[in-house]
Amino acid sequence: MMQVLSVASECAPLVKTGGLADVVGALPAALAGHGVRMRTLLPGYPAVMAALLDTAEVGRFDDLFGGAARLLQGQAAGLDLLVIDAPHLFARSGGPYLAPDGRDWPDNPERFAALSWVGAHVAAHGAGGWRPQVLHGHDWQAGFATEYLRQMGARDVCTLLTIHNIAFTGSTDPWRLSSLRLDPGRFHSEGYEFWGGISALKAGLMGADALTTVSPSYAEELMTPEFGMGLDGVMRHRRDVLHGILNGIDEDAWNPATDPAITPYSTPAGKIAAKAALQAELGLPPAEGPLCVIVSRMSHQKGLDLILEVLPTLLEQGGQLAVLGSGDPGLEQAFRHAAADPNVAVRIGYDEGFSHRLIAGGDAILVPSRFEPCGLTQMYGLRYGTVPVVALTGGLADTVINASPAALAQGVATGIQFAPVTAQALRSALVRLNSLYRDGPTWTQLQANAMAQPVGWGQSAAAYAALYADLAGTR
Ligand code: ADP
Ligand code: GLC
Repeated sequence: MMQVLSVASECAPLVKTGGLADVVGALPAALAGHGVRMRTLLPGYPAVMAALLDTAEVGRFDDLFGGAARLLQGQAAGLDLLVIDAPHLFARSGGPYLAPDGRDWPDNPERFAALSWVGAHVAAHGAGGWRPQVLHGHDWQAGFATEYLRQMGARDVCTLLTIHNIAFTGSTDPWRLSSLRLDPGRFHSEGYEFWGGISALKAGLMGADALTTVSPSYAEELMTPEFGMGLDGVMRHRRDVLHGILNGIDEDAWNPATDPAITPYSTPAGKIAAKAALQAELGLPPAEGPLCVIVSRMSHQKGLDLILEVLPTLLEQGGQLAVLGSGDPGLEQAFRHAAADPNVAVRIGYDEGFSHRLIAGGDAILVPSRFEPCGLTQMYGLRYGTVPVVALTGGLADTVINASPAALAQGVATGIQFAPVTAQALRSALVRLNSLYRDGPTWTQLQANAMAQPVGWGQSAAAYAALYADLAGTR
């Protein structure tokens, strides 16, 4: 059995702000069938501490970045966990990164440095008699692990860092160098220095034995100035160890045939009831055109401002829009305004059950992201026969087969892609959507193709397992 320590700042279903949590939560089960035993190291947020069962203390730290801490081993939600019980860092209300007032916790650099430090400690010295062969970190929150491993002199552990979103670089000012317990000798371009500051992500990108990101297209994009966010040079430098491995979705949680949130269905015809139920729930009248749905964080990345721009076209065609999301206050406000139209429904907030009803009941799901490392909701859409209309970028490019005349003729199309990511291109995508929707047999075929497309972890889990084996084999 290959032993792997996964180090992450969120993990579904315990604590989630986005797709990172879904992936971290899904990997252990996905990899179990590939000879990998994975333990997941998480910060001891209140929700994680409350869920932890069969707890045993497997480590103690007198001064973990400003206070005493314990390392606990236990189970929660079917996951094998190591949890950092450090009340001075993690026993706080609010989200994993933000205080209740919506601002970043001022000590976030130290909080996640502590996560990385404990990850390195477990990889170097083991915990409760268990020691991993590979430390697999996720995003900037695990970035310093390679620096600390170097300090601990542990040369026999392999490291892998997965980039879920390069927009978050974990950057901070150089004055924090000592509170982050970094080796000042590594404050240079081959280490963790980034544009004159400190970046946890840069540290991991330079230090890890291998890097992955969550789709092949994003792996290519990361090496370009447009998508690299200042780290494209680093990515080009490390291109030989960079792999794009597509995310899968949780096929049990997202299965229209067994979903407890809806009247289950397994053919496109079954969507009729789901759509009627959704329209009734939202007070939307029957309509001639497609019901388009969105489930998303509201941020610049997601391109939702473009939806507002093209809304008149969507409505003129007899279409409808139902939105679930939260985030940027300006966007939230603009969507609330848009809901004045009787064919638009907007719910600001986070609601797991409602997200299932939306994705089941919609005819199409819109994902007009400016960049999208992988994206999960378009894959939920595929599984539920809810045709994805997506920007041609990152994982959206890799998971949807555009309904071009040729792809339609071949019977392989699963959705609609548009480029560039502009209101004009999105508008023409909605015109295409509308005409496909009104062409009954073609539309049913598109839905059926979408439902048949594999979106699980199979291939990707095998790719991770092979990568771990390669890494461990080279030591
Ligand atoms: P990102 O991680 O960039 O936000 P992904 O598409 O990878 O984008 O993952 C987003 C995840 O969060 C999906 O599981 C999606 O269903 C969920 N999600 C996003 N917004 C909401 C919301 N308002 N309510 C419920 N689930 C949401
Ligand atoms: C990030 C990305 C998203 C990806 C998710 C899981 O949040 O924005 O595209 O699906 O991570 O890898």
